[in-house]
Order: sequence, then C-alpha cells, then structure tokens
Amino acid sequence: MSKGLFISFEGIDGSGKTTQLELLRQRLEAEGRSVVAVREPGGSPVAERIREVLLDASIDGLNPVAEAFLYGAARAQLVAEVISPALDKGSIVIADRYLDSTLAYQGYGRGLDKGFLNQLNQMAVSGTIPHLTILLDLSPAEGAVRRRGTVPDRLEQEGLAFQERVRRGYLALSCQQPERIKVVNAAQLPEKVHEEIIYLVTTYLKP
Ligand code: TMP
Repeated sequence: MSKGLFISFEGIDGSGKTTQLELLRQRLEAEGRSVVAVREPGGSPVAERIREVLLDASIDGLNPVAEAFLYGAARAQLVAEVISPALDKGSIVIADRYLDSTLAYQGYGRGLDKGFLNQLNQMAVSGTIPHLTILLDLSPAEGAVRRRGTVPDRLEQEGLAFQERVRRGYLALSCQQPERIKVVNAAQLPEKVHEEIIYLVTTYLKP
C-alpha cells in the first residue's frame, strides 16, 4: 500500500472539474501538503503526445477500440512515470479524469464492452485505484452552455445524446461503487461545490 492519497475528478465536458481541481490544489498546498496534479489523457511528455492525437478534431474515423487503447496507453505511462512514484513518496495526487472516464466515454458513450475496458484499465493502472473519486454531475445542456465560445475537441463534437449517455454511465458507476465515487451537484455555485469537495476530502486527510 502506498503512503499517499489519490483523488480523481470525473464528469462530463464542461462540468467544472479543472476549476475545482485547481481550487483543491491551492487549498491543500496552503496547508503545506505536497500535491501532484495531473490530467488525463496527458500529464507526462509521452502521454501529452497521445493526448494530441486523441483530442485532434481534424482526425476522422478513429476506430473506437483503437481510441480505447490510446487512452489506456496514456494512462499506463502516466501511472508508471508520475502517479505511482508520487504516491510512494507520500504526496497527494489529484487527477483531472482517470479510469472511470474510459468506462463512461468508451463504455457507456461509445458502447464498447465493459469487460474489455475493465481489463484494459486493470492492465494500465496495475492496482493504482483512487481512494476517492469526485463525480461532478451536470446536465449536458448546462455543460454545453458553459463550453460556449470554446473550440470543441474531438469528443466534445459528439453532441448532447453522447454526453447524456456518458452522464448516465457515470451515475451508474457511482451506484456500483458508492464508497469510492461521490456525486457532487455541479450546477451549484463554484464556492458551494468547493465546500462540498473539501468536506469529502477532509475525511481522507492525515492530520
Ligand atoms: P478534457 O481534458 O477536456 O477533460 O478532455 C479529455 C476528453 O477525453 C474528454 O472529452 C473526455 C475524453 N476521455 C475519454 O473519452 N476517455 C478517457 O479515458 C479519458 C481520460 C478522457
């Protein structure tokens, strides 16, 4: 068992993960804790290169299985290079997306076999599972309003029905693993969302 604490953020596009992750990082660092923040796909030089392919809106016809393998490849590299070493050193790792994204997007969104995706995830993370996953739940319509004015990436181009399947997938995952995956209503004011996240995280913090 590693010494550190591992927290992941999940949610549909536009749910405010990145903002909330940054607020949490600042708060924990202000308390003098060692924090390593990563994003998925990406978070290491090789994984950032894979991210470029995955999010490139000009790429048409990427096979869904190939897409899943690429997310798995980026994750395996990030775990080996950044997440595991940081946890071994006792840091708090906060991830903007992790293995639940693959189940929600490639499984519930694209309809790939969940057994295959679970195996892929197991291979990629080799036992490195978050202690706590914060699911920022938001309607896809609200997510789209918040993203208005930004250039959509390859996944964001999939439309509202896709995001709806992803959202339902996330909620199903939280019902299957209620101890790990905690749902926070992301339609609230950002300060309120932050407060709820702090409440959830505090339970896991060593004094
Ligand atoms: P983001 O950095 O804006 O969250 O973009 C990542 C995109 O990639 C987002 O649309 C969700 C998608 N994604 C998957 O489809 N599967 C995955 O396993 C991960 C990590 C992300």
